[in-house]
This record gives sequence, C-alpha cells and structure tokens, in this order.
Amino acid sequence: ENINTVVFENSTDASKAVAQEIAALIQEKQKENKPCILGLATGSSPKGLYAELVRLHKEEGLSFKNVISFNLDEYYPMEPNSINSYVRFMKELLFDHVDILPENYHVPDGLLTKEQIADYCHDYEAKIEALGGIDLQILGIGGNGHIGFNESGSLQNSKTRLVALDHITRVAASKDFFGLSNTPRTAITLGVKKIMEAKQVILLAWGEGKANIVKKSVEDEVTNRVPASFLQEHNNAVFVLDKEASSKL
Ligand code: GLP
Repeated sequence: ENINTVVFENSTDASKAVAQEIAALIQEKQKENKPCILGLATGSSPKGLYAELVRLHKEEGLSFKNVISFNLDEYYPMEPNSINSYVRFMKELLFDHVDILPENYHVPDGLLTKEQIADYCHDYEAKIEALGGIDLQILGIGGNGHIGFNESGSLQNSKTRLVALDHITRVAASKDFFGLSNTPRTAITLGVKKIMEAKQVILLAWGEGKANIVKKSVEDEVTNRVPASFLQEHNNAVFVLDKEASSKL
C-alpha cells in the first residue's frame, strides 16, 4: 500500500475517531492562539463526521471560534439557498450548529458571472495562502476517483477553477436533482495543488461501492485518470475506511 489506511468496523466509529482528531487539532491551535485552517468536503461521506463535531460542540464544549474553513467545491451555477447547494449543506450539517464565525467559513460561490470566476478562484487560493495553507483537508472520493470536483484528467498542479462534471458524476448526483436534465454540468473546485499542499489529508470512504476505487487509488499507479492516486505522493495522507471500502486492499 502506498497510502496509509485505517480501517474501522463501521463508518460511525470511523467518523467519531476523525472528529476526535479534528477536535484535538482545533484545541492545539487554540492553545497557541492560532487559527485552525480546515478544508471541508460535502457528499454523504462526511455527514457522520459533521454530526459528531456538532455533538462535541454541544455536549463537550468544543469551540470553533478559531476555525477558518474552505470548502472544496460547489456546483455552478447554484443558488446558495437551493436544496442542493453545498452552502446549504454545510450550514445545515455543521455551520449553523457550532460557533464558527460566519465570516470564517468559505464555500465557492455558485452565483458568479462567468467573467468573475477566474479572479474569484485566484482570490480563494490567495486567502488560503495568506493563512499559511490548509492544516487539515477532509476529502471524500467519487466513484471515478475524483477529489473535490477534480475529475479524471485533472492535473496534479491544477488550480481552483470551473470544471465540467463527468457524465458518471452527474448520474450519481442526478437523484438529488430529480433527473439528469436538471443536474448541473459544471462546478467550481479547489484545484489538486492546494489539496496536495494541505499539511494533512484525511480521505473518508464507506461501503463496498467504493472498494474498487479505493484499491486503485491506494495500490495502483499514480495517474491523473484517478486524481485520488495523487495522494500517494502526499507525506501525511490517510484513507479512513470501513470494512467494506477496504475489502479489495
Ligand atoms: C461529490 C463531491 C465530492 C465527494 C463525492 C463523493 O462529487 N463533490 O467532494 O467526495 O461526491 O460523494 P459521497 O461522499 O456521497 O460518496
């Protein structure tokens, strides 16, 4: 194996362990009077993690006052209040339930004009750089090996940008959009380069449906056909898996 893997009995236990790790990092930064820069993901995989972070806030007093977060991606175009918006997802699952300051979370803006996108993406990366980079990046993985919306073919040094979604990605998303014809064709995603520059990366994958792509990413060659395989070249990346997702390793 070319990427460290940690396998849990189930995704609930795994999500709790990752939440503990994030809590420890936030608190370590608090003691140093520093912000904790988190890269956050959407999709079904991090839902249990966010639920556990909310619980740690409500029941154990974990504060997010020093957290500054940058989400990986957003569909384009997308209204922030729409049911499928990643802004809404993050607010409903995490931001509205913890004490993170509204000015401290960032989700790519799905309402930009085409002309604004390039400058916006440049600024998104500049903000991350000004803070010294991402301390911990949470990732899910698409069935085709995409990370964020860095689809197959994305380069290892790719920047934050507007991308065309793969057909297979749109098919997977189409159930949320009541059909393929309503499913966005494009998205804004953090580039692979900023993901690779994160000091630590934790990728979450659950279920047997992810077993093949996990195996390819962890054990097969590094290739831009499977962007998650780039993580083999990261010095502090781990795949946190349930038994089913690890079954082909
Ligand atoms: C979407 C997201 C990705 C996510 C992937 C997998 O494409 N943009 O960031 O990793 O879906 O989703 P899930 O976690 O639901 O399997």
